Amino acid sequence: MPMWAGRFTKELNAQANSFNSSIGFDSRMFREDIRGSLAHAEMLAASGIIGAEDLSLIRGGLGGILEDLESGKLKIDENSEDIHMFIEAQLTSRIGDAGKRLHTARSRNDQVALDLRLYLLNKIPELVGGLRLLTETLCKIAEEHTETVMPGYTHLQRAQPVSFGQHLMAYAQMFLRDRGRLCDCMKRMRENPLGSGALAGTTYPIDRFMTSELLGLGSPSANSLDGVSDRDFCVEFLSALSLIMTHLSRFSEEIILWCSWEFKFIELDDGFATGSSIMPQKKNPDIAELVRGKTGRVYGGLLAVLTMLKGLPLAYNKDMQEDKEAVFDALDTVQACLGIFSSMLGTMAVLKENMRAAAARGFINATDCADYLVKKGLPFRDAYKITGGLVAKCVAEGKTLETLDLGEFREGSPLFDEDVYAAINLENCLRGRLSYGGPSPESVRNQIELVRGELAAWEK
Ligand code: ARG
Repeated sequence: MPMWAGRFTKELNAQANSFNSSIGFDSRMFREDIRGSLAHAEMLAASGIIGAEDLSLIRGGLGGILEDLESGKLKIDENSEDIHMFIEAQLTSRIGDAGKRLHTARSRNDQVALDLRLYLLNKIPELVGGLRLLTETLCKIAEEHTETVMPGYTHLQRAQPVSFGQHLMAYAQMFLRDRGRLCDCMKRMRENPLGSGALAGTTYPIDRFMTSELLGLGSPSANSLDGVSDRDFCVEFLSALSLIMTHLSRFSEEIILWCSWEFKFIELDDGFATGSSIMPQKKNPDIAELVRGKTGRVYGGLLAVLTMLKGLPLAYNKDMQEDKEAVFDALDTVQACLGIFSSMLGTMAVLKENMRAAAARGFINATDCADYLVKKGLPFRDAYKITGGLVAKCVAEGKTLETLDLGEFREGSPLFDEDVYAAINLENCLRGRLSYGGPSPESVRNQIELVRGELAAWEK
């Protein structure tokens, strides 16, 4: 019999019961539910709403339930409606009337809003841990490749020289921002909805500041209707996770390209690639493909919650039960993706020679050639045009800029001299890109240092 059976003449239809139930996915919040209930009970007793004896029974009862759930001695009853009902029913079966007093001045509406906030507040540091490990891994690899010349691309066309280290550190910046967004959404997540009641607060003399304090949260939500119907924190969380997946997915795409015979810039460790059931030669980057593929379901969670909320009148509506599956699935997905990504990157081999060979083809030093003429006094637009002509000549004759002789250069402009060869040497082109944030080895080393400094500051 459900707790609300009093006003009903019939039992809930079995099909309706299983459709309505959320225990299959909300039982993972059992610790938070118990924490919230303990704080609520402490407050009820301190405010004189329940007696000291009841409080002590509730403490003991909830403590025992927690222990038994942790040890596996107590199994979740899949027929319960949700984790809140299950724990309350357990408590009452263990301690009798005191258990029935726990829900005074509370509703499942403020209870679930609290539990979900507490749960995510607990989980976000784990996600940040995943971002940290990944960023540390990037710094470590980048440090070894500040001089590894590779072609930088625009439109997936070879464009200008960068280093593999510079390329990796671009992702480090994305993951720093991702952490920032998670921390930002935690600020609003710390608001305490408990004490909003079903929607209209309560006539009991509760102390919402006390439960906030006990739970380590910020202020109580300022409006009871908003307190129970706000799921902005889920949307913010899911959008932060969606951006993490955007970053991982772009990275995955590059990993997949780099593994192809067309690029062969890296070789994944055999432990992080799979074969084919028919093609004996295959080595597939499944992990990166799956991360790219899973991005869709995290975006799906964000869209599901936004859409679920958009037409809801205040205050609580059962539609809101849909928040949890979206949030939990996204959380699990991102956690798994971050973890596997660090391991996959940490074990891959970087094929420097192939990057260098690709850099030598595609005229990625053409800008440097034009800049050479600019440094000799030519306006950039004229230098650009002359270099374009030289590139066209090279394309027609199957040459590279480096293989033109000085005579050929001088057909383009008399300003060319022997020192042009040094100016268009790829290693020099990389070294010369000293602008702040640029790909010179010095600049990339500086970036690594700054990122490491940020990582260290995360501790505080
Ligand atoms: N299982 C519900 C949820 O996840 C808990 C709140 C139920 N409240 C209610 N009034 N039916 O949203």
